[in-house]
Amino acid sequence: MSKVVVITGAARGIGLATARALKAKGATIVIGDIDEAAVKEAAESLGVTGLAVDVTSRESFTAFLDRAEEAAGPPDVVINNAGIMPIGPVTDESDADAHRCVDINLHGVMLGTKLALGRMLPRGSGHIINVASLAGVMFTPGLALYNASKAAVIAFTEATRLEVRDRGVHVSAVLPTFTNTDLVAGTSSPKGQRNCEPEDIAAAVVELIGRPRPQVVVPKKLGRQARLGALLPDRVRRAVARRYGLDKIFLEYDPEVRKAYDARIRTGS
Ligand SMILES: NC(=O)c1ccc[n+]([C@@H]2O[C@H](COP(=O)([O-])OP(=O)(O)OC[C@H]3O[C@@H](n4cnc5c(N)ncnc54)[C@H](O)[C@@H]3O)[C@@H](O)[C@H]2O)c1
Repeated sequence: MSKVVVITGAARGIGLATARALKAKGATIVIGDIDEAAVKEAAESLGVTGLAVDVTSRESFTAFLDRAEEAAGPPDVVINNAGIMPIGPVTDESDADAHRCVDINLHGVMLGTKLALGRMLPRGSGHIINVASLAGVMFTPGLALYNASKAAVIAFTEATRLEVRDRGVHVSAVLPTFTNTDLVAGTSSPKGQRNCEPEDIAAAVVELIGRPRPQVVVPKKLGRQARLGALLPDRVRRAVARRYGLDKIFLEYDPEVRKAYDARIRTGS
């Protein structure tokens, strides 16, 4: 694959696994993250370019794309992957956490999409991939803020796709389920289900770049379940959620195990 791919939030987790998988396919990769020390270390170990970026800042994001282009050439693919997941009762959520979550998960994706389009539309080619979540279509107690931010990413991505579809630029959303990264620290998996690994999401992104589609759920079977689930009456949906423990997962988590993640998403490193 002879493409230049830029990935945000790729110092670790899904972004880093995606960088690794795409590099193995021959792509030229630039990774960015707010955690500068971690992104430099990850880039060095992977043999790719690693740069600091704060996706909430137009100035920082523009400088990041400029420097990425200097290092690797015009991006064929921009993956807006940076995201955070505050959890707990909505009544306990501070306004600061709410602003930060919307700023990174939604505004960061909107900004990244606009800045990428500014470079891709004049060329008449490119692919923007926004990492949303299955949490953008399946809603869960203790996850209201994250659910809302990811639902908005899905809506924004689809509307943007429809707007630019005839101008040579693909726009896609990726909706992963629970994936074993720091983001789910201290939470348990739904009963009887195994979390995805970051490599599973990376493989889906590699496939998506090869065959652009509007939306990809990982794993695929959960996309069908989510669509069917949305048709069920509320009473049945709640019973299913109880059956899998989804009514409690984000309310009864282990705050000690989650402490380091919570601190990182508030400070950036
Ligand atoms: N892990 C899951 O279960 C899961 C499921 C569905 C979707 N997702 C989404 O996948 C994406 C990656 O998450 P992950 O699980 O790899 O989490 P992660 O915490 O391992 O990685 C996220 C990265 O984003 C970076 N980041 C945070 N704020 C930033 C900012 N302002 N600017 C630049 N970078 C910033 C962090 O430093 C971190 O390195 C997120 O959008 C997340 O919402 C994750």
